[in-house]
Amino acid sequence: MNNFQMFDPKKPNNQLPLLPTDFNYDNITILKQVNLSNIALAKVNALASRLPDSILLVSPLLVRESVASSQIENINTTVFEVFEAEVMEEKKQKGPAKEVLNYRDAIFAGFELVKKKGFLSTNDFVKIQSIAEPDKTGIRKMGIKIMNDLTKEILYTPPDGETHIRDFLANIEQFINKDDDGIDPLVKSAVFHYQFESIHPFLDGNGRVGRILVILYLIKKMAKRLDLPVLFLSGFIMKHKKAYYDCLHKANEKGDLLDVIMFILKAIEEQADATVETIKKIEVLMNKFKSVLAKKTVFYSHELIQLLFSKPFMTINYLQENMGFSARQTASKYLTEMVKLGLFQSKRI
Ligand SMILES: Nc1ncnc2c1ncn2[C@@H]1O[C@H](COP(=O)(O)OP(=O)(O)OP(=O)(O)O)[C@@H](O)[C@H]1O
Ligand SMILES: [Mg+2]
Repeated sequence: MNNFQMFDPKKPNNQLPLLPTDFNYDNITILKQVNLSNIALAKVNALASRLPDSILLVSPLLVRESVASSQIENINTTVFEVFEAEVMEEKKQKGPAKEVLNYRDAIFAGFELVKKKGFLSTNDFVKIQSIAEPDKTGIRKMGIKIMNDLTKEILYTPPDGETHIRDFLANIEQFINKDDDGIDPLVKSAVFHYQFESIHPFLDGNGRVGRILVILYLIKKMAKRLDLPVLFLSGFIMKHKKAYYDCLHKANEKGDLLDVIMFILKAIEEQADATVETIKKIEVLMNKFKSVLAKKTVFYSHELIQLLFSKPFMTINYLQENMGFSARQTASKYLTEMVKLGLFQSKRI
């Protein structure tokens, strides 16, 4: 009898097979999709690296991803509210918008870690989770169950015991930092995402951290093919939530990773295409801002454009501080002028 014939959703899955599991990762269906996902990734990367000082400009994209990712967890807010919260003093930020900003900060922190160290460790997973979910940080000490939200039926019980969990995470760490196992990086991202979710190392935030890790891993592995955090899975998962849970469940039950791999590969392709469209729209809008500001004002500068596009919601204070104006009045005057030109709308907060 193999592990899967014994699978009992109510018992801690301490027999979760270690990575790489015995599976045909070179299945032709998978490889065809890898090819499509790679083409989409190459397009998004080429476009993203055309944006000036790209990391600033991806910040609004991160907010959008963060809103979508948090919605999966029923943290509901709008992109607009989060942009608004973003320019508020930190102590005034609260509720769902604050949680979304935590998620955004967790991606940023993870991005810095990957850039600095070039690899991802268990400590990094823990660090990222503590930023995304500051109220319930750290590897869980107690058992946990995954239930159907409506029926409360127990669907899966992840491994229990901190030592067990740490051993499983160490195995993921080895798997993602090993380059010579012949498994395509995109396929690996799906496999370890599934494994991470099955370990469910935290009391909360496992889904969000698991999605962030896919982005970070791709950035780390796909040097030159994906330099920036511009590929986000949450929109796709939101749209196909049932299929997502089903493929995780099928892998738990039968050890069959095909559906979960195909799901993540398609998410990569579709979301890369979606980001391409968004970046094209940003470019169009940016050109409009440039031309209006250059023709109709005396204060056009490259720096200003960058700032405006990194924070779609702008306050007088924020503009003054970040442009280094000595007088608050200057920032106020510029904003008023931009409102008159139809580039911004004004709102009291
Ligand atoms: N049968 C399953 N096996 C393994 N993992 C699962 C299963 N069903 C759901 N999951 C994972 O559990 C995650 C939810 O766990 P948790 O609540 O800790 O994370 P979250 O970030 O708070 O939530 P969410 O992912 O809903 O935003 C899901 O996103 C999914 O990845
Ligand atoms: Mg949760």
